[in-house]
Amino acid sequence: MSATCEPRATNHFGTGPDGGTRRIFSFEFLIGTASWFEPDTHRLFQTRDRCVRRTSETIIIAATHVVRNRGATMKIVGINGSPRRKKSQTRKLVEAVLDGARQRGAEAELVDIGALDIRYCLGCQVCYAEGECVQEDDLYDLWEKMMRADGIVLGSPVYINGVTAQLKTVIDRLADAIHCQMLVGEYGCAVTTAGGSGISEVLGYMNYVLNSLGAVTVGEVGAAIGRDPAALDTAVTEARNLGQTLADAIQTKRRYDDQESAIADRGEFFRQLVKANKEAWRHQYDFWMEKGWM
Ligand SMILES: Cc1cc2nc3c(=O)[nH]c(=O)nc-3n(C[C@H](O)[C@H](O)[C@H](O)COP(=O)(O)O)c2cc1C
Repeated sequence: MSATCEPRATNHFGTGPDGGTRRIFSFEFLIGTASWFEPDTHRLFQTRDRCVRRTSETIIIAATHVVRNRGATMKIVGINGSPRRKKSQTRKLVEAVLDGARQRGAEAELVDIGALDIRYCLGCQVCYAEGECVQEDDLYDLWEKMMRADGIVLGSPVYINGVTAQLKTVIDRLADAIHCQMLVGEYGCAVTTAGGSGISEVLGYMNYVLNSLGAVTVGEVGAAIGRDPAALDTAVTEARNLGQTLADAIQTKRRYDDQESAIADRGEFFRQLVKANKEAWRHQYDFWMEKGWM
């Protein structure tokens, strides 16, 4: 078997590692990695098997990971954790960040978590072993967008000094991605609105989550609008500037030495953790090996 490198192909038929025939909607890979997305099940296919067959031809090894956006256009995804969707004030800040990034040429998309079917993490750890969740819901679609993006905006209103249950549910489902540091190389930022308390805690937490995934963060904007609704207007302007900063950081591959050093330390912690659990967490161990990080 030889490793091959081809451009993206679409609508191929392939044989999955379980032996079933699958229609492969999109298929792309860099040397050594491959992944594909199945439209019928809306699942991002990930495997620790080392061989993928396409028609009669054996092609490549080690499907583990969505291939990063390598196109000329920057991609940013904004995630709004408010259940109020279009009525959400936080959404206005997420949208403003995306507008700022668009002004710098980015392609930007907003996702309301409240419009998705995303279930609680069951704590079963099957994703640690297999690289796939046992639940068939909208998490894979959202995760695919996050993986393909160059930048991620996390937005949540303050709910009892924390993020909303909707956003926390998504975050809990990313434990495997955190152990594997899957967003290394991406950039992010955070926005929130609140009556008046918990703003710095929630912004700090969302940026911490992005760092935990391996991404560096470029800033944050929060608005206390309980007693001063006009504070939102100021925050919208700040959020637009933050979007420009995000896009500039991506374009210039801006370095954030302090964060990168903290991310490296956390990465070392996860490397040791995954190594210590390599029999049970097979997907994670293979992932680290295939990245050449172990
Ligand atoms: C369940 C719940 C909990 C809240 N907890 C807090 C809080 O701890 N501190 C605060 O300042 N505001 C709190 N708020 C107010 C919201 O953060 C505020 O209204 C926010 O702007 C709503 O954003 P949204 O329109 O994007 O949903 C809470 C609101 C709700 C519904």
